[in-house]
Amino acid sequence: MAFPIPEPYKWDESFCVFYSQLDEEHKGLFDGIFACAANRGDKGKFDDLCKKVSDHFTTEEGMVDGNNYENTASHKEAHKEFLTKLNGLSVPLDDGAVDYAKNWLVQHIKGIDFKYKGKLG
Ligand code: FEO
Repeated sequence: MAFPIPEPYKWDESFCVFYSQLDEEHKGLFDGIFACAANRGDKGKFDDLCKKVSDHFTTEEGMVDGNNYENTASHKEAHKEFLTKLNGLSVPLDDGAVDYAKNWLVQHIKGIDFKYKGKLG
């Protein structure tokens, strides 16, 4: 099942995983994608998004690793696939790239990140 894409593209409480650092980072990813969608040719904003994504995955993987969380391997694989796709894009971003990133983040948080809710730390 596909979760709806918020419009405007902003984090809201339906995306809450209830770990403050992860929720803050997820907000930053929504804002980063929003900024790239509004400034398709801005390489600085795109590079900033790529760094935020990479940093977030590092944080999140560090948290799931220490917690005996059963879906770690497939979760990491999903992260790696997105980073590879993201790093393969170039500015100016086209509609397909923007839609892909918007959709990926929504489906990933609600479909995969949500599985660790209540199980970490
Ligand atoms: Fe919050 Fe698995 O990325």
